[in-house]
Amino acid sequence: MKLLRSLEAALSTALLVDVALAATAGKLSILSMNVAGLPAILNSNDVPGDKTTNAETIGSKFAEYDYDVIHVQEDFNYHAAIYRTDNHPFRTATSGGVPFGSGLNTLSKLDWVQFERVKWATCSDASSSDCLTPKGFTFMRAAISAGAADNTTAVYVDFYNLHADAGTESGDNVARQANINQVASYIAASSQGNAVLIYGDTNSRYSRAADTAIRSLVASTSGTSFGMRDAWVELQRGGVVPSEESLCANPSSNYLCETVDKVFYRSSPLVTLKAETFQYVSSLFLQADGNVLSDHNPVSVNITWSSGPSLRQSAFWGGPHGTWFSDVSALANVKKPKPSVLSFRGGARLDSVSLTLTDGTRLTHGGTGGSATSITLGASEYWVEARLCQGQRSGQTRNFYIQASTTSGRTLAAGTATQDCATFSAPSGWHIVGFLGQAGDELDQLAFVYAPK
Ligand SMILES: *[C@@H]1O[C@H](CO)[C@@H](O)[C@H](O)[C@H]1NC(C)=O
Ligand SMILES: *[C@@H]1O[C@H](CO)[C@@H](O)[C@H](O)[C@H]1NC(C)=O
Repeated sequence: MKLLRSLEAALSTALLVDVALAATAGKLSILSMNVAGLPAILNSNDVPGDKTTNAETIGSKFAEYDYDVIHVQEDFNYHAAIYRTDNHPFRTATSGGVPFGSGLNTLSKLDWVQFERVKWATCSDASSSDCLTPKGFTFMRAAISAGAADNTTAVYVDFYNLHADAGTESGDNVARQANINQVASYIAASSQGNAVLIYGDTNSRYSRAADTAIRSLVASTSGTSFGMRDAWVELQRGGVVPSEESLCANPSSNYLCETVDKVFYRSSPLVTLKAETFQYVSSLFLQADGNVLSDHNPVSVNITWSSGPSLRQSAFWGGPHGTWFSDVSALANVKKPKPSVLSFRGGARLDSVSLTLTDGTRLTHGGTGGSATSITLGASEYWVEARLCQGQRSGQTRNFYIQASTTSGRTLAAGTATQDCATFSAPSGWHIVGFLGQAGDELDQLAFVYAPK
């Protein structure tokens, strides 16, 4: 008993320290590597040596260099050998070798709240066998800062790994453009309001006139404050997209030459990302005899991040099902957002959450079931705490209950409480001004947006 109590005391001290130190800035090191894992019988990738041995060496280098989040492509038939020697704590389960898998995997020091694999709708065999195996992209919402131990604040970035159609025939260019359009529209829907990192094998080069894929990705958002940037163009090419071809040797000792392996990123009002360094690191990935381990130069980028100065978020509660929504973009356009009315709908579970800002902006998510309840906040009354309870519905987790508490000690609740609840308190000096998460008729997943009072 005594031991238990002192353990408890130690734990709560640790929690307090954690809360006090909730990170609002940090660093992120990422690596993109095409690991040349096609079956040796199909493709040697022009890499000498035994593919299983090389895959084991790649895994041990991943462990040694300790990158935060590694994206691999062509991780097909030697996948187990890489995972055998790597030691990253969070790794995706393989989707299989050729002809079943996409070859895409992530090895990470950061945990994630959601992971999806998406197949390309278009492939082309014009110049290579892109339709042999179902290539595509992956989406992962990773917590780059777990924030406070009580989940009050958290910082997420949406990571996309991809392997686009190869080749330079016109059929390849068309397929590759379709691939990039597909990932761009997925990002527009599923990462609306969020910071994004896309890195992988684009099979695209700026210098080829007919190869429009990556130029369109950057152009579609350029000039906007949260537009997509190419870390190589930004850091090695002075922000100017090259029009002349400059192929890389492998290993490459200069970073000016262009490879198809690329890193794109964008910030959001919730988190600012800034690429600080860009390197080809093939010289760190060599066999014992000095030969390369892959026919691609691996790409390493170091990034700094910081929490938004005027909008932040809590962790999520509930399950990652339903359609993504985020009030962040709307809130970013409002100077000093302040809710004047809170309205919830609930019954057996939580049906909808809604608030109206003092400028009249109405933010509503969920369905029309349940019964409605609302309160009007006073001019100096703020919503500062929310309690959510989750439960199982049709085999999936969703939110069953919400209770809002204001600085005047008033509360508003809807739905039915369960045993599985969490309380989200706005950081000191901040209050709750909106929502993000996933919904259908009900609130599958919910998190809160905070702004300074
Ligand atoms: C924080 O969130 C994680 C992931 O959803 C959950 O497992 C954990 O119980 C939460 N902690 C608290 C104190 O609510
Ligand atoms: C990138 O970050 C890693 C981990 O912090 C560090 O070891 C490495 O030296 C950095 N690379 C550059 C080019 O600064």
